[in-house]
Amino acid sequence: MDKLVIKGGVPLKGEITISAAKNSILPIIAASILSGDKCIINNAPTLEDVYVICDLLSSMNTKVSFNDNNIYIDTSGILSTDEPDGDLVRKMRASFLIMGPMLSRFGKVKISLPGGCNIGTRPIDLHLKGFRALGANIDLGYGYVEAKAEKLKGNNIYLDFPSVGATENIMMAAVLAEGETIIENAAEEPEIKDLANFLIQMGANIQGAGSDTIRITGVKNLHGVSYTPIFDRIEAGTYMIAAAITNSKVKISGVEEEYLRPVIAKLIESGASLEIGEKFIIVNGHNGLRAMDIKTMPYPGFPTDMQAQIMSLACLSKGTSIITETVFENRFMHAGELKRMGANIKIDGRCAIIEGVKSLSGCNVKATDLRAGAALILAALCADGVTTINDIYHIDRGYVSIEEKFKKLGANIERIK
Ligand code: EPZ
Repeated sequence: MDKLVIKGGVPLKGEITISAAKNSILPIIAASILSGDKCIINNAPTLEDVYVICDLLSSMNTKVSFNDNNIYIDTSGILSTDEPDGDLVRKMRASFLIMGPMLSRFGKVKISLPGGCNIGTRPIDLHLKGFRALGANIDLGYGYVEAKAEKLKGNNIYLDFPSVGATENIMMAAVLAEGETIIENAAEEPEIKDLANFLIQMGANIQGAGSDTIRITGVKNLHGVSYTPIFDRIEAGTYMIAAAITNSKVKISGVEEEYLRPVIAKLIESGASLEIGEKFIIVNGHNGLRAMDIKTMPYPGFPTDMQAQIMSLACLSKGTSIITETVFENRFMHAGELKRMGANIKIDGRCAIIEGVKSLSGCNVKATDLRAGAALILAALCADGVTTINDIYHIDRGYVSIEEKFKKLGANIERIK
C-alpha cells in the first residue's frame, strides 16, 4: 500500500493549475449512457474514481478509451439486460448515478445497493422517491434495487434534502420522460449546473439548474457531444488552504471566483490575504491566522468536502474555532489523526471545538477518507519533523498526482510504493 512521507516546515511557492471536477465528471460519464452515441470528455483528470466508473460502463458493453486526458465513450453497445457490476457499484457510491440514465434509456435497471461509506450511511431514499414519482415501479431487494417503467412521465418532485446525487439521478431520469418534471429543493452545486449543460448540449431541455428549482421538459432522444467539465472547486480550495497553513504565497490557476466564495470568505476572515484575478487566485498566508467558526451547508454554503481541510488550518489558528458538520453524520474521523499530531480538538456530536496550538508534530497517521487524507497532507506540510500518511488510496480517488503538484510548489513530499 502506497504511503506519503512529508517533511514539514518548507514554505510553498509558485503556481499550480486545477484539474477538472471529479464531482462533475462522474455524473457526466454516467449521463453518456443516455445518448447511445459517442461522447468525448475533455481535460479529464486521471483519478481512481474516474477509472472505476469507466470500468463499470465497460462491464456493460461500453467502449471506453483514454487519450491525453480525454475520455472517449461509446455507449451504443449497452443492452437493456446489462446489469452493472455489483462489486464496482459497492466500491464507489457515485456508480449509483447510472441508475437514472439506464432507467431513462431502457425503462428498466437492476443495480446493487451502493452501501454506506466511512462518512455516513448515505441512503438512496430520495433517488427512489424521484423515480417512483416519474412512474417507475421500485423493487427494493436484499442488496439490490430494481426499477421498471413502461414509459417515464414527468411529475413534480420535492426533495426533503437538496441531495446532489438524487438531483442528478432524477434529472437524468426525466430528460427522456413524457412531459414536464419540476424538481423542487434541488441541490444547487455547480456540478449540477455542469451536468445540466452537458445534457443540454446532448439535446435535453432543462431550465434552472444551479437554482433550487429545476424544470425539465422531456425530449425524444439525445446525441453524443464533446464536453469540458468545470474546474474542481474542492481541489482548488485544498491548495488555497495549503498556502494559508504554510504561510506561503501560491497562485492557483484555472479557477472561477464564483464557485470558491465560501472558502475565500473564510480565508479572509482568518486573516489570509487573497488576490483574485480573471482565472486565478493568489493566496498569501502569513503568521497569526485567526480562529473562525464554520458550519457546512449545501451549496452555496461552506462545502462539507472542505471541512476536513479547514479543520487542519483551525488547528494552527489563534483562538477557538467551532466547526459544525450538518451534511454527513460521521465526517470527523480526521480529528483523531490530527490529535495524534498534537492538535487540540474536542468532538461533541456534530460539532468540533478546536483550540489553536503553536505547532503540530509529524508522526505516523492514516487517511480515513478522501478529504480527511487531504487534511493530513495540509497538517504534515507545516508540522515539525516527518509525517507518514498511510492508506493514501483514499486520496488518489479525488486528487490528481497530489504529491507531484505539491512537489512543484516546493514541498518535501515523497510517495513510497
Ligand atoms: C455528493 O455526494 C458528492 N459526491 C460528495 O463528495 C459531497 O460530499 C456530497 O455530494 C455533498 O455535497 C459526488 O458528487 C460524486 P448527497 P452525494 O446526496 O450525492 C442525505 C467528495 O469528497 N441523503 O448530497 O452522495 C445523505 O445522507 C464526496 O468528493 C438522503 O438522506 O451527497 C447526506 O446526509 C464525498 N437521502 C446528505 O443527503 C438520499 O436519497 C448529502 O448527500 C440521498 C442523500
